[in-house]
Amino acid sequence: MKITELQTRRDNLGSIAAVARDVAVGDGEVLLRIDRFALTANNVTYAAHGVDMGYWQFFPADQGAGIVPVWGFATVVESRAEGVSEGARYYGYWPMASHALLLPARVSPRGFSDAAAHRLPLPPVYNNYVAASPDYGPEPIQALFRPLYTTSFVLDVMLAEHPVDTLVLTSASSKTALGLAQAAKNRQRVIGLTSAANREFVVGTGYYDDVLSYDDIATLGDMAGRFALVDFSGNGAVRHAIHATLGDRLVESHVVGDTHWDTANTASLPGVQAQLFFAPSVIVERIAQWGAEGFEIRLAAAWRRFIASTGWLRVVEASGAEAVAAHWQALAGGKVDPAQGLVLTV
Ligand SMILES: NC(=O)c1ccc[n+]([C@@H]2O[C@H](COP(=O)([O-])OP(=O)(O)OC[C@H]3O[C@@H](n4cnc5c(N)ncnc54)[C@H](OP(=O)(O)O)[C@@H]3O)[C@@H](O)[C@H]2O)c1
Repeated sequence: MKITELQTRRDNLGSIAAVARDVAVGDGEVLLRIDRFALTANNVTYAAHGVDMGYWQFFPADQGAGIVPVWGFATVVESRAEGVSEGARYYGYWPMASHALLLPARVSPRGFSDAAAHRLPLPPVYNNYVAASPDYGPEPIQALFRPLYTTSFVLDVMLAEHPVDTLVLTSASSKTALGLAQAAKNRQRVIGLTSAANREFVVGTGYYDDVLSYDDIATLGDMAGRFALVDFSGNGAVRHAIHATLGDRLVESHVVGDTHWDTANTASLPGVQAQLFFAPSVIVERIAQWGAEGFEIRLAAAWRRFIASTGWLRVVEASGAEAVAAHWQALAGGKVDPAQGLVLTV
Protein backbone atom coordinates (compact mmCIF):
# COMPACT_ATOMS: atom_id res chain seq x y z
CA MET A 1 0.00 0.00 0.00
CA LYS A 2 1.15 3.56 -0.73
CA ILE A 3 1.39 6.00 2.16
CA THR A 4 2.29 9.70 2.19
CA GLU A 5 4.91 11.14 4.53
CA LEU A 6 5.80 14.80 4.97
CA GLN A 7 9.56 15.10 5.04
CA THR A 8 11.28 18.26 6.30
CA ARG A 9 14.83 19.27 5.33
CA ARG A 10 16.95 19.00 8.48
CA ASP A 11 19.02 22.04 7.49
CA ASN A 12 16.02 24.15 6.44
CA LEU A 13 12.93 23.48 8.52
CA GLY A 14 10.69 25.59 6.29
CA SER A 15 11.33 23.19 3.41
CA ILE A 16 8.82 20.35 3.53
CA ALA A 17 7.61 17.92 0.84
CA ALA A 18 5.18 15.04 0.51
CA VAL A 19 6.92 11.74 -0.25
CA ALA A 20 5.01 8.59 -1.29
CA ARG A 21 6.27 5.27 0.05
CA ASP A 22 5.15 1.64 -0.37
CA VAL A 23 4.61 -0.28 2.84
CA ALA A 24 3.72 -3.90 3.48
CA VAL A 25 2.52 -5.12 6.86
CA GLY A 26 4.92 -7.76 8.20
CA ASP A 27 4.38 -10.44 10.82
CA GLY A 28 3.48 -8.85 14.18
CA GLU A 29 3.00 -5.39 12.65
CA VAL A 30 0.02 -3.06 12.32
CA LEU A 31 -0.73 -0.30 9.85
CA LEU A 32 -2.68 2.66 11.19
CA ARG A 33 -4.32 5.53 9.34
CA ILE A 34 -3.52 8.79 11.13
CA ASP A 35 -6.89 10.49 11.49
CA ARG A 36 -5.94 13.77 13.15
CA PHE A 37 -2.97 15.34 14.87
CA ALA A 38 -2.19 18.69 16.47
CA LEU A 39 0.52 20.99 15.22
CA THR A 40 2.04 23.50 17.68
CA ALA A 41 5.42 25.07 18.38
CA ASN A 42 6.23 21.90 20.33
CA ASN A 43 6.50 20.04 17.00
CA VAL A 44 8.80 22.74 15.62
CA THR A 45 10.96 22.27 18.73
CA TYR A 46 11.13 18.52 17.96
CA ALA A 47 12.46 19.41 14.51
CA ALA A 48 14.84 22.12 15.76
CA HIS A 49 16.28 19.53 18.18
CA GLY A 50 15.91 16.60 15.82
CA VAL A 51 19.61 15.76 16.01
CA ASP A 52 20.77 16.82 19.49
CA MET A 53 17.69 15.43 21.29
CA GLY A 54 17.08 12.52 18.94
CA TYR A 55 13.64 13.51 17.61
CA TRP A 56 14.53 12.54 14.03
CA GLN A 57 15.15 8.99 15.21
CA PHE A 58 11.50 8.08 15.81
CA PHE A 59 10.40 7.97 12.17
CA PRO A 60 13.31 7.43 9.76
CA ALA A 61 13.31 9.49 6.56
CA ASP A 62 15.41 9.99 3.42
CA GLN A 63 19.01 11.24 3.69
CA GLY A 64 19.14 14.85 4.98
CA ALA A 65 15.42 14.87 5.77
CA GLY A 66 13.35 14.18 8.87
CA ILE A 67 9.74 13.33 9.68
CA VAL A 68 8.35 15.56 12.41
CA PRO A 69 6.63 13.66 15.23
CA VAL A 70 3.06 14.74 16.08
CA TRP A 71 0.47 13.77 18.72
CA GLY A 72 -3.00 12.59 17.79
CA PHE A 73 -5.31 9.71 16.92
CA ALA A 74 -5.10 6.84 14.43
CA THR A 75 -7.18 3.82 13.39
CA VAL A 76 -5.82 0.34 12.69
CA VAL A 77 -6.48 -0.47 9.02
CA GLU A 78 -4.50 -3.73 8.85
CA SER A 79 -3.26 -5.89 11.69
CA ARG A 80 -0.91 -8.86 11.88
CA ALA A 81 -0.39 -8.33 15.62
CA GLU A 82 -2.17 -10.40 18.23
CA GLY A 83 -4.55 -8.37 20.42
CA VAL A 84 -4.68 -5.34 18.12
CA SER A 85 -7.77 -5.45 15.94
CA GLU A 86 -8.64 -3.64 12.76
CA GLY A 87 -10.81 -0.62 13.48
CA ALA A 88 -9.25 -0.07 16.94
CA ARG A 89 -8.25 3.52 17.60
CA TYR A 90 -5.24 4.82 19.52
CA TYR A 91 -3.86 8.08 20.88
CA GLY A 92 -0.11 8.54 20.63
CA TYR A 93 2.97 9.86 18.91
CA TRP A 94 2.86 9.59 15.11
CA PRO A 95 4.89 10.58 12.10
CA MET A 96 3.55 13.58 10.14
CA ALA A 97 2.13 11.20 7.54
CA SER A 98 -1.03 9.55 6.29
CA HIS A 99 -0.18 6.23 7.98
CA ALA A 100 2.20 4.64 10.48
CA LEU A 101 3.57 1.09 10.57
CA LEU A 102 4.19 -0.11 14.15
CA LEU A 103 5.30 -3.30 15.90
CA PRO A 104 3.07 -3.64 18.99
CA ALA A 105 4.44 -5.20 22.18
CA ARG A 106 3.04 -5.39 25.72
CA VAL A 107 -0.46 -5.35 24.21
CA SER A 108 -3.36 -4.92 26.66
CA PRO A 109 -6.89 -3.51 26.42
CA ARG A 110 -5.35 -0.16 27.48
CA GLY A 111 -2.93 -0.05 24.54
CA PHE A 112 0.55 -1.17 23.49
CA SER A 113 4.08 0.06 22.98
CA ASP A 114 5.98 0.13 19.70
CA ALA A 115 8.88 -2.31 19.88
CA ALA A 116 10.53 -1.32 16.58
CA ALA A 117 14.28 -1.74 17.19
CA HIS A 118 15.14 1.88 16.34
CA ARG A 119 12.70 3.19 18.99
CA LEU A 120 13.77 1.03 21.92
CA PRO A 121 16.55 3.41 23.13
CA LEU A 122 14.16 6.40 22.99
CA PRO A 123 12.13 7.68 26.01
CA PRO A 124 9.27 5.20 26.68
CA VAL A 125 6.62 7.95 27.05
CA TYR A 126 6.88 8.47 23.28
CA ASN A 127 6.57 4.77 22.43
CA ASN A 128 3.27 4.13 24.22
CA TYR A 129 -0.05 4.02 22.34
CA VAL A 130 -3.20 4.32 24.43
CA ALA A 131 -6.66 3.05 23.42
CA ALA A 132 -8.68 6.11 22.33
CA SER A 133 -11.18 7.19 24.97
CA PRO A 134 -13.62 10.09 25.26
CA ASP A 135 -12.68 10.48 28.95
CA TYR A 136 -10.36 13.37 28.12
CA GLY A 137 -12.92 15.14 25.90
CA PRO A 138 -13.20 15.68 22.14
CA GLU A 139 -10.30 14.36 20.08
CA PRO A 140 -9.12 17.77 18.75
CA ILE A 141 -8.81 18.98 22.36
CA GLN A 142 -6.96 15.82 23.39
CA ALA A 143 -4.61 16.01 20.38
CA LEU A 144 -3.78 19.61 21.18
CA PHE A 145 -3.45 19.52 24.93
CA ARG A 146 -2.69 16.01 26.18
CA PRO A 147 1.06 16.22 25.59
CA LEU A 148 1.31 19.91 26.44
CA TYR A 149 -0.93 20.03 29.48
CA THR A 150 0.75 16.97 30.99
CA THR A 151 3.93 19.07 30.89
CA SER A 152 2.13 22.09 32.41
CA PHE A 153 0.86 19.80 35.16
CA VAL A 154 4.22 18.25 36.10
CA LEU A 155 5.85 21.70 35.99
CA ASP A 156 3.20 23.03 38.36
CA VAL A 157 3.69 20.12 40.76
CA MET A 158 7.46 20.73 40.76
CA LEU A 159 7.10 24.50 41.30
CA ALA A 160 4.60 24.02 44.14
CA GLU A 161 7.32 22.17 46.08
CA HIS A 162 9.38 25.39 46.47
CA PRO A 163 6.91 28.29 46.43
CA VAL A 164 8.17 31.73 45.38
CA ASP A 165 6.47 35.14 45.34
CA THR A 166 6.42 35.49 41.55
CA LEU A 167 6.54 33.10 38.66
CA VAL A 168 7.71 34.50 35.31
CA LEU A 169 6.77 32.57 32.15
CA THR A 170 8.19 33.42 28.73
CA SER A 171 6.31 32.65 25.51
CA ALA A 172 3.34 33.24 27.76
CA SER A 173 1.00 32.78 24.77
CA SER A 174 2.10 29.17 24.23
CA LYS A 175 -0.35 26.46 25.19
CA THR A 176 2.08 24.84 27.60
CA ALA A 177 2.71 28.17 29.37
CA LEU A 178 -1.04 28.93 29.47
CA GLY A 179 -1.70 25.55 31.10
CA LEU A 180 0.96 26.23 33.73
CA ALA A 181 -0.25 29.79 34.36
CA GLN A 182 -3.81 28.56 34.90
CA ALA A 183 -2.69 25.82 37.29
CA ALA A 184 -0.31 28.04 39.28
CA LYS A 185 -2.47 31.17 39.28
CA ASN A 186 -3.74 31.13 42.85
CA ARG A 187 -0.47 30.10 44.49
CA GLN A 188 1.59 33.22 43.75
CA ARG A 189 1.76 36.11 41.31
CA VAL A 190 2.22 34.89 37.71
CA ILE A 191 3.73 37.24 35.13
CA GLY A 192 3.68 36.40 31.45
CA LEU A 193 6.25 37.68 28.96
CA THR A 194 5.24 37.62 25.32
CA SER A 195 5.67 39.37 21.96
CA ALA A 196 4.01 42.77 21.71
CA ALA A 197 1.64 41.36 19.06
CA ASN A 198 0.43 38.56 21.36
CA ARG A 199 0.08 40.61 24.54
CA GLU A 200 -3.62 41.40 24.14
CA PHE A 201 -4.46 37.74 23.57
CA VAL A 202 -2.51 36.68 26.65
CA VAL A 203 -4.18 39.33 28.85
CA GLY A 204 -7.57 38.13 27.57
CA THR A 205 -7.03 34.56 28.81
CA GLY A 206 -7.15 35.90 32.38
CA TYR A 207 -4.49 33.42 33.55
CA TYR A 208 -1.78 35.96 34.38
CA ASP A 209 -1.65 38.66 37.04
CA ASP A 210 0.38 40.81 34.68
CA VAL A 211 1.52 40.47 31.05
CA LEU A 212 4.62 42.26 29.77
CA SER A 213 6.07 42.36 26.30
CA TYR A 214 9.70 41.31 25.78
CA ASP A 215 10.61 45.01 25.47
CA ASP A 216 9.47 45.62 29.05
CA ILE A 217 11.63 43.09 30.93
CA ALA A 218 13.30 45.97 32.84
CA THR A 219 9.96 46.50 34.66
CA LEU A 220 10.65 43.28 36.58
CA GLY A 221 13.51 45.14 38.29
CA ASP A 222 10.99 47.20 40.30
CA MET A 223 9.37 44.14 41.85
CA ALA A 224 10.38 42.69 45.22
CA GLY A 225 10.41 39.11 46.47
CA ARG A 226 11.66 35.75 45.23
CA PHE A 227 11.17 34.76 41.59
CA ALA A 228 11.19 31.57 39.53
CA LEU A 229 11.57 31.66 35.75
CA VAL A 230 10.10 29.06 33.42
CA ASP A 231 11.45 29.71 29.95
CA PHE A 232 9.43 28.38 27.02
CA SER A 233 11.05 30.71 24.48
CA GLY A 234 14.64 29.44 24.35
CA ASN A 235 15.53 33.01 23.45
CA GLY A 236 19.02 33.62 24.84
CA ALA A 237 18.69 37.40 24.91
CA VAL A 238 15.34 37.24 26.76
CA ARG A 239 16.65 34.70 29.24
CA HIS A 240 19.81 36.74 29.84
CA ALA A 241 17.86 39.97 30.38
CA ILE A 242 15.60 38.30 32.98
CA HIS A 243 18.55 36.81 34.88
CA ALA A 244 20.44 40.12 34.80
CA THR A 245 17.39 42.19 35.84
CA LEU A 246 16.35 39.98 38.74
CA GLY A 247 19.85 39.15 40.03
CA ASP A 248 19.71 37.13 43.24
CA ARG A 249 15.91 37.56 43.52
CA LEU A 250 15.75 34.86 40.82
CA VAL A 251 16.02 31.64 42.83
CA GLU A 252 14.99 29.08 40.17
CA SER A 253 15.36 29.08 36.39
CA HIS A 254 13.91 26.27 34.27
CA VAL A 255 14.61 25.77 30.58
CA VAL A 256 11.53 24.10 29.07
CA GLY A 257 11.00 25.22 25.49
CA ASP A 258 12.51 26.74 22.41
CA THR A 259 9.60 28.45 20.62
CA HIS A 260 11.99 31.17 19.35
CA TRP A 261 13.97 28.32 17.81
CA ASP A 262 15.80 30.49 15.27
CA THR A 263 17.31 32.84 17.88
CA ALA A 264 20.70 32.34 19.53
CA ASN A 265 20.69 30.51 22.83
CA THR A 266 23.41 31.83 25.16
CA ALA A 267 24.92 29.21 27.40
CA SER A 268 26.23 31.49 30.14
CA LEU A 269 23.73 33.36 32.32
CA PRO A 270 24.27 35.56 35.37
CA GLY A 271 22.88 34.36 38.70
CA VAL A 272 21.16 31.09 39.45
CA GLN A 273 22.03 28.07 37.31
CA ALA A 274 19.34 27.25 34.71
CA GLN A 275 18.00 23.68 34.88
CA LEU A 276 16.87 21.72 31.85
CA PHE A 277 13.32 20.37 32.26
CA PHE A 278 12.43 17.27 30.22
CA ALA A 279 8.80 16.22 30.79
CA PRO A 280 9.18 12.56 29.66
CA SER A 281 11.71 11.92 32.45
CA VAL A 282 9.76 13.87 35.08
CA ILE A 283 6.53 12.00 34.18
CA VAL A 284 8.30 8.67 34.73
CA GLU A 285 9.55 9.92 38.15
CA ARG A 286 6.08 11.08 39.22
CA ILE A 287 4.53 7.77 38.14
CA ALA A 288 7.17 5.96 40.24
CA GLN A 289 6.22 8.22 43.18
CA TRP A 290 2.39 8.11 42.90
CA GLY A 291 1.77 4.95 40.84
CA ALA A 292 0.18 5.09 37.37
CA GLU A 293 -3.32 5.42 38.80
CA GLY A 294 -2.34 8.12 41.29
CA PHE A 295 -0.70 10.09 38.48
CA GLU A 296 -3.77 9.72 36.26
CA ILE A 297 -6.20 10.82 38.98
CA ARG A 298 -4.22 13.98 39.82
CA LEU A 299 -3.65 14.84 36.16
CA ALA A 300 -7.31 14.28 35.23
CA ALA A 301 -8.54 16.62 37.99
CA ALA A 302 -6.18 19.41 36.91
CA TRP A 303 -6.95 18.74 33.21
CA ARG A 304 -10.70 19.17 33.75
CA ARG A 305 -10.16 22.55 35.45
CA PHE A 306 -7.91 23.75 32.63
CA ILE A 307 -10.05 22.53 29.72
CA ALA A 308 -13.13 24.18 31.25
CA SER A 309 -11.25 27.50 31.05
CA THR A 310 -10.16 27.35 27.39
CA GLY A 311 -12.90 29.54 25.92
CA TRP A 312 -10.10 31.48 24.17
CA LEU A 313 -9.22 28.51 21.92
CA ARG A 314 -10.26 28.37 18.25
CA VAL A 315 -9.75 24.91 16.77
CA VAL A 316 -8.80 25.09 13.07
CA GLU A 317 -9.02 21.79 11.17
CA ALA A 318 -7.56 21.12 7.72
CA SER A 319 -6.62 18.11 5.63
CA GLY A 320 -4.37 17.17 2.70
CA ALA A 321 -0.58 17.16 2.38
CA GLU A 322 -0.50 20.65 0.87
CA ALA A 323 -2.55 22.18 3.68
CA VAL A 324 -0.40 20.46 6.30
CA ALA A 325 2.80 21.71 4.62
CA ALA A 326 1.44 25.28 4.51
CA HIS A 327 0.47 25.21 8.20
CA TRP A 328 3.90 23.79 9.07
CA GLN A 329 5.65 26.61 7.22
CA ALA A 330 3.51 29.26 8.92
CA LEU A 331 4.20 27.75 12.32
CA ALA A 332 7.95 27.46 11.80
CA GLY A 333 7.91 31.09 10.63
CA GLY A 334 6.09 32.20 13.82
CA LYS A 335 2.98 33.26 11.90
CA VAL A 336 0.30 31.35 13.80
CA ASP A 337 -2.26 33.17 15.94
CA PRO A 338 -1.85 31.83 19.51
CA ALA A 339 -5.64 31.51 19.89
CA GLN A 340 -5.61 28.89 17.12
CA GLY A 341 -5.33 25.18 17.75
CA LEU A 342 -4.31 23.46 14.52
CA VAL A 343 -5.68 19.94 14.09
CA LEU A 344 -4.64 18.36 10.81
CA THR A 345 -4.84 15.25 8.64
CA VAL A 346 -2.42 14.37 5.82
N1 LIG B 1 10.70 20.34 28.02
C1 LIG B 1 9.61 19.62 27.77
O1 LIG B 1 9.50 18.49 28.18
C2 LIG B 1 8.49 20.23 26.98
C3 LIG B 1 7.23 19.62 26.92
C4 LIG B 1 6.18 20.25 26.22
C5 LIG B 1 6.42 21.43 25.55
N2 LIG B 1 7.69 21.97 25.59
C6 LIG B 1 8.01 23.18 24.83
O2 LIG B 1 7.20 24.28 25.18
C7 LIG B 1 7.19 25.19 24.08
C8 LIG B 1 5.77 25.65 23.83
O3 LIG B 1 5.10 24.68 23.04
P1 LIG B 1 3.54 24.82 22.64
O4 LIG B 1 3.28 23.69 21.74
O5 LIG B 1 2.77 25.01 23.88
O6 LIG B 1 3.57 26.17 21.80
P2 LIG B 1 2.42 26.99 21.03
O7 LIG B 1 1.16 26.98 21.80
O8 LIG B 1 2.36 26.58 19.62
O9 LIG B 1 3.11 28.42 21.16
C9 LIG B 1 2.89 29.45 20.29
C10 LIG B 1 3.72 30.65 20.76
O10 LIG B 1 5.12 30.37 20.69
C11 LIG B 1 5.83 31.50 20.18
N3 LIG B 1 6.29 31.12 18.84
C12 LIG B 1 5.87 30.05 18.12
N4 LIG B 1 6.54 29.93 16.98
C13 LIG B 1 7.42 30.94 16.96
C14 LIG B 1 8.43 31.34 16.05
N5 LIG B 1 8.66 30.65 14.93
N6 LIG B 1 9.14 32.43 16.35
C15 LIG B 1 8.92 33.11 17.49
N7 LIG B 1 8.00 32.74 18.42
C16 LIG B 1 7.25 31.68 18.15
C17 LIG B 1 4.84 32.64 20.21
O11 LIG B 1 4.81 33.05 21.58
P3 LIG B 1 5.34 34.41 22.23
O12 LIG B 1 5.02 35.51 21.27
O13 LIG B 1 4.50 34.46 23.50
O14 LIG B 1 6.80 34.22 22.51
C18 LIG B 1 3.55 31.87 19.88
O15 LIG B 1 2.38 32.58 20.22
C19 LIG B 1 7.84 24.46 22.89
O16 LIG B 1 9.17 24.86 22.70
C20 LIG B 1 7.78 23.01 23.36
O17 LIG B 1 8.73 22.16 22.75
C21 LIG B 1 8.71 21.39 26.27
